[in-house]
Amino acid sequence: MKPTAALIRRLEKAARKAAQASYSPYSEFRVGAAILAGSGKVYTGTNVENASYGLCNCAERTAIFTAAAAGERQVRAVAVYTPTKTATTPCGACRQVINEFGPEALVISVCDSADRIQTTLDRLLPAAFGPKNLGRKKA
Ligand code: THU
Repeated sequence: MKPTAALIRRLEKAARKAAQASYSPYSEFRVGAAILAGSGKVYTGTNVENASYGLCNCAERTAIFTAAAAGERQVRAVAVYTPTKTATTPCGACRQVINEFGPEALVISVCDSADRIQTTLDRLLPAAFGPKNLGRKKA
């Protein structure tokens, strides 16, 4: 089912709000994400950095891992807010993680201007490797 315009607006708002909790003392780049899960619930996340820089976790992955830990196994849409003048799409690692639960998810990017991007995960990560390549059903 395609998310309605009202749901998309709700996700965008939730992503902006989630950025307020960002733990990003190293990059000072406060990102927020909100996902619409299979149950219809919205889960949010923010980027959580670490003094060991390679362990930084993006907002999108925080939101998806939170949803998965709550038992969700489907991602229908992801909204991400970045504190930038133009909208930016999720990084490669996050695209792969979104693919696990939402190979056809809607991906919406918003920022500090009216600029926005609305696309789908399969456009951002074509020919993705995922559960289907292992012949696995989701547990
Ligand atoms: N970041 C995200 O949380 N999501 C994105 O889509 C882009 C990058 C975070 C990772 C790191 O904490 C900071 O932004 C700078 O890259």
